[in-house]
Amino acid sequence: MKIAIIGTGYVGLPTGVGLAELGNQVVCVDKIAAKIEALTQGKVTLYEEGLEELYLKHLKSGALRFTLDMREAVDGADVVMIAVGTPPHPVTKEADLQYIYAAAEELAAYLDGYTVVATKSTVPVGTGDEIEAIIKKVNPAADVDVISLPEFLREGFAVHDFFHPDRIVIGTDSQRAREVMRRLYAPFADKTEMLEVSRRSSETIKYASNAFLAMKIHYINEMADFCEKAGADINEVAKGMGTDSRIGRKFLNPGPGYGGSCFPKDTNAMAQMGRKFGAMLNLIETTIAKNDERKLEMAKRVAAAVKHNPEAKIAVWGLAFKGGTDDCRESPAMQILEKLLHYNRNVTVYDPQAMENARAVLGDRVSYAADPYEACAGADIAVILTEWENFKHLDLEKLKAKMLQMQIMDLRNLLNKEEVCRQGFCYSCIGMKN
Ligand code: UDX
Repeated sequence: MKIAIIGTGYVGLPTGVGLAELGNQVVCVDKIAAKIEALTQGKVTLYEEGLEELYLKHLKSGALRFTLDMREAVDGADVVMIAVGTPPHPVTKEADLQYIYAAAEELAAYLDGYTVVATKSTVPVGTGDEIEAIIKKVNPAADVDVISLPEFLREGFAVHDFFHPDRIVIGTDSQRAREVMRRLYAPFADKTEMLEVSRRSSETIKYASNAFLAMKIHYINEMADFCEKAGADINEVAKGMGTDSRIGRKFLNPGPGYGGSCFPKDTNAMAQMGRKFGAMLNLIETTIAKNDERKLEMAKRVAAAVKHNPEAKIAVWGLAFKGGTDDCRESPAMQILEKLLHYNRNVTVYDPQAMENARAVLGDRVSYAADPYEACAGADIAVILTEWENFKHLDLEKLKAKMLQMQIMDLRNLLNKEEVCRQGFCYSCIGMKN
């Protein structure tokens, strides 16, 4: 099939590359000239494990192309996927749909023959109706079905998730559109659940899923606070809960709060929708407020650990909003760091992937280290803020030699407490008596 993808960000690019690998002809269109130029010349514009290799393969084969020209992308396409951003409005926190509507208006003019227009971006319930109205207004003769096709890719694992989806949700009442989607996703038919639902249900599924996962994280963080007071151990509690298949092991890792470009945005948009429809979503409202508070609490916890010494050097490991990505947007680590800087603390930072993105925000307000050991040179405390796998395997002997005070605060519960204590470190983590 010929597929047009509008938007080459964290959703659009991996989706385009994945669909090319499935044997489709894919044309990606974007408004940012520098991005299209880079992508045309073989320079991948974002870090995702396994992406570059597949992208180069299909760029070379011609199955994957990039353009600034909407007509070139949409003309003759069987499916047009909208994968542009829906950033939160700075005041209302509602999803800002201007890019979606602009894309719908522009693509409408070039529709040619029966086309499925699929919204991959996360959009509030009812947006499909608006997109359909815009397309019909610009091009009343268009033979089109507008469907919701939500994306569940995780950043850092987008390529893996594309090829191993838990489910594919197809939101439309049109049989014709369902047929096209069944053909497109036929390679997954044997191993993946295909859910055919109404457009509004599909739009809701995306928000309801992300909000539930955010709530699950908030729940385990609240339990961690409880364990600290009650003398229980959150790692043991989470394991005990997670072995119940109805609860599941995933998303029960306590931490400094969730972040990223999706959970904060989508929980806020969902809460806003609840208010708009007069159906208050109290669990989600609480999750948002408590998750915001938690990051400040964590910054206070770090500051309190070195309160006797205003000059203390704090080494921060991890800046990305989670492990496996270079993305610092809405990163709990960055928010905690900002608070520490607000307290005038002296901070040196290290992250395996996110240094460049962090530097753009932090500038010269912190010192930068080339590795975790260098970050700890002369440090009074090392604080783990992001769940990078390699932080689990650091050479503690080497670290010992670098630090002024042997103190580690592990806000992701990554390290083995016994081992770290045995080495003589003063160790504190989340959700247990320290
Ligand atoms: C999320 C959804 O998982 C994905 O399905 C959707 O398409 C986009 O939003 P992503 O934002 O990439 O994906 O990150 P995710 O892995 O879900 O983590 C989000 C945040 O929660 C991170 O800050 C992470 O550190 C935190 N988290 C996650 C925890 O604190 N504990 C956990 O157990 C899991």
